[in-house]
Amino acid sequence: MKILVINGPNLNMLGKRDKEIYGGKTLAEIDSLIREQGEALNIEVVTFQSNSEGALIDFIQEQADSASGIIINPGALTHYGFSLRDALADTKLPLIEVHLSNIYAREEWRAQSVIAPIAKGQISGLGWRGYIAALRALVAQLRGEG
Ligand code: DQA
Repeated sequence: MKILVINGPNLNMLGKRDKEIYGGKTLAEIDSLIREQGEALNIEVVTFQSNSEGALIDFIQEQADSASGIIINPGALTHYGFSLRDALADTKLPLIEVHLSNIYAREEWRAQSVIAPIAKGQISGLGWRGYIAALRALVAQLRGEG
């Protein structure tokens, strides 16, 4: 089983960017914790980050046929990324949306997600542990565990 874990614009700056909001870990550290969880679950995890919506879409289109599910933190594209949403919807793959911060407790414009309506679920505000929780939940659902 292969799960794609995708991060959008500015998430390459984790570790430097607004640490009180996003935590102190770099994306490389978070990706490695996700990969460790993947090994524990005996699945393949492919991680990808881009600052460009087009590159995210290209990656999704290239990988979708061989993947079983997607975990994505779309960054600010969450709030207006309709092309990204269409690409994710076209895959027909189960999807979990993750945010490090609680997008409902910040500026009003962050409380709207154009991705959430096509997601199985959303985890917002649990920091890097949100990715781990999403991976465990997605794999359990795909395995039909109750
Ligand atoms: C974010 C929340 C977004 O509003 C913001 O633009 C980000 C990160 C989060 O993980 O909390 O880049 O997706």
